Amino acid sequence: MVLLTNRLAGAFTVALAGSASAISLDINNEQSIRNAAATASFNTMSNYTSNHTGQIPGYIPDAWWEGGALFDTLIQYWYFTGDASNNPAVSQGMYWQRGNDNYMPSNWSSYMSNVDQMAWGLAAMTAAELNYPVETNMSSWQTLAQRVFKVQSARWDESTCGGGLRWQIWSYESGYTMKTAASNGGLFQLSARLARFTGNQTYADWAEKIWDWSLTSLVNNDTWVVADSTSTGSGCATVGENQWTYNYGLYLSGLAYMYNFTNGETKWKAGLNGLLNTTFTNFFPEKYGGMIMSEALCEPAEDCNTSEETYKGLLAGDLAFVSVVAPYTASEIIPRLQGSASGAAKQCSGGSNETLCGRRWYQTTWDGSADMEEQMSATSIFASNLVVYKDAGLATQATATNATTTEGGTGAGNGTSSTDASGGGNGTVTGVTKNAGSTVVCGALGVVAAIVAGAVAVA
Ligand SMILES: *[C@@H]1O[C@H](CO)[C@@H](O)[C@H](O)[C@H]1NC(C)=O
Ligand SMILES: *[C@@H]1O[C@H](CO)[C@@H](O)[C@H](O)[C@H]1NC(C)=O
Ligand SMILES: *[C@@H]1O[C@H](CO)[C@@H](O)[C@H](O)[C@H]1NC(C)=O
Ligand SMILES: *[C@@H]1O[C@H](CO)[C@@H](O)[C@H](O)[C@H]1NC(C)=O
Ligand SMILES: *[C@@H]1O[C@H](CO)[C@@H](O)[C@H](O)[C@H]1NC(C)=O
Ligand SMILES: *[C@@H]1O[C@H](CO)[C@@H](O)[C@H](O)[C@H]1NC(C)=O
Ligand SMILES: *[C@@H]1O[C@H](CO)[C@@H](O)[C@H](O)[C@H]1NC(C)=O
Ligand SMILES: *[C@@H]1O[C@H](CO)[C@@H](O)[C@H](O)[C@H]1NC(C)=O
Ligand SMILES: *[C@@H]1O[C@H](CO)[C@@H](O)[C@H](O)[C@H]1NC(C)=O
Ligand SMILES: *[C@@H]1O[C@H](CO)[C@@H](O)[C@H](O)[C@H]1NC(C)=O
Ligand SMILES: *[C@@H]1O[C@H](CO)[C@@H](O)[C@H](O)[C@H]1NC(C)=O
Ligand SMILES: *[C@@H]1O[C@H](CO)[C@@H](O)[C@H](O)[C@H]1NC(C)=O
Repeated sequence: MVLLTNRLAGAFTVALAGSASAISLDINNEQSIRNAAATASFNTMSNYTSNHTGQIPGYIPDAWWEGGALFDTLIQYWYFTGDASNNPAVSQGMYWQRGNDNYMPSNWSSYMSNVDQMAWGLAAMTAAELNYPVETNMSSWQTLAQRVFKVQSARWDESTCGGGLRWQIWSYESGYTMKTAASNGGLFQLSARLARFTGNQTYADWAEKIWDWSLTSLVNNDTWVVADSTSTGSGCATVGENQWTYNYGLYLSGLAYMYNFTNGETKWKAGLNGLLNTTFTNFFPEKYGGMIMSEALCEPAEDCNTSEETYKGLLAGDLAFVSVVAPYTASEIIPRLQGSASGAAKQCSGGSNETLCGRRWYQTTWDGSADMEEQMSATSIFASNLVVYKDAGLATQATATNATTTEGGTGAGNGTSSTDASGGGNGTVTGVTKNAGSTVVCGALGVVAAIVAGAVAVA
């Protein structure tokens, strides 16, 4: 058993105590980047109360999916900085919400979308790749990621549009008729990462199948534009054109992992080059110098919803690992991660302690927003810049240590309870009636899933 130490946590505490008034960042100084990431992660977790007595670990109110995105970010933060101070909260939440080891806990499984579930599956995959400690008697992170793959690949729907994964899982949810870039890009990314991690060709075959289907409607391999969604109503002939960083990050990462798995096959390299190009053009606008990431659709009018506020940080994490598994891209990616972090730091002078970050990283003064999601994105853009100081490769099934820890263990509760005993297999829910008729899950695309009252109790 390997005991994870808190070796760096002390240094961060000292750094934090002395920091007030804006986040100063020297992008060429590793310690400076660590300090910025520490401040941003501290501010992110200051808003997290789900680990308090009486609360539901891992649950972000009205946004169940966001817990997965938050922990994915914090696992990367831990990996890049060594600061394990949040690991107890992260492990507790990751296990509490695991359901039947497939991230369909019965409290939320009747309302969640494939995208919501995948946020957690990808966080488990990150934990596996980065050797995040496993708790005693818990399934490995690899197992959790594989089980999410298993239930989602079983939902692949060839009855419409020749394939594709629907956005929603259940037919009573509005959005069930949509096949989205996030649902398909998410499963594509997980398949590609599992292929590299396990070496199992089955996952690579799935990644290829999802990519090939995506090219028939969502991803244009002439312009390399990723559409947000398409609908079974049109036979997937028409698409919604909204451009989101999140969708690009999901596909980019999958392409890079497949590039790596196939030792550089042209098919994946061409897609990777094409989508990187569009990503840079769309989300690193020339009018701000071309090196600073922007959620171009909602930042100009400051009308991003909280889900949309997380996307840039998720793209930053994806790009950091693209530069690792497809090293030839690093020379294009790193300057943009650096430009974005430098920009973000100037944006972090909000709140009474003047360290809260806004969302317009291209604006040199705080833009007045200070949501938890913006602190999370700032954490990610700072931590992702540490990728240049980290030359350790990612774990594979053969090298994963599955190191266990008792320090900072979750102690009470492992998420298993009578109400959590959701059915096995693809997560079919038996007899859940809780919250019937209410709107609960705000999907990653920011559309509130409408629940048809009475249709929730699935036989
Ligand atoms: C800054 O203020 C926010 C809001 O009050 C708080 O949540 C956070 O913990 C503070 N951060 C630091 C570094 O003191
Ligand atoms: C967390 O942030 C939200 C707004 O983003 C705010 O409404 C809430 O009060 C904050 N909670 C804590 C504990 O800081
Ligand atoms: C909850 O998690 C935060 C962030 O890691 C931590 O600072 C805090 O002490 C935790 N609270 C409890 C009650 O465990
Ligand atoms: C499910 O809901 C119950 C009651 O609110 C709560 O105690 C439990 O922690 C929740 N479990 C999950 C996994 O959300
Ligand atoms: C782990 O499981 C084994 C076998 O079921 C049991 O003997 C042991 O007490 C468990 N350890 C912990 C820390 O729960
Ligand atoms: C789950 O599997 C069952 C049996 O294979 C199938 O009838 C059902 O449609 C599946 N449900 C989902 C949501 O995938
Ligand atoms: C490869 O993965 C698939 C899907 O999980 C599984 O059914 C199969 O048994 C695996 N093959 C090997 C050789 O492990
Ligand atoms: C674009 O995708 C279509 C459909 O999969 C394929 O036939 C064509 O070869 C692709 N073109 C390029 C340039 O990759
Ligand atoms: C990148 O995109 C621009 C415009 O969208 C195009 O003119 C250029 O040829 C593309 N470059 C590559 C390398 O694909
Ligand atoms: C695959 O990724 C590893 C890092 O995990 C890297 O060293 C190797 O060069 C990559 N392979 C290719 C073909 O780029
Ligand atoms: C880690 O866990 C995976 C999945 O359970 C297993 O295949 C692998 O052998 C384990 N590695 C070690 C070193 O125990
Ligand atoms: C989770 O905790 C419950 C109650 O303490 C225990 O019965 C169960 O065996 C635990 N499950 C795992 C996988 O450790």
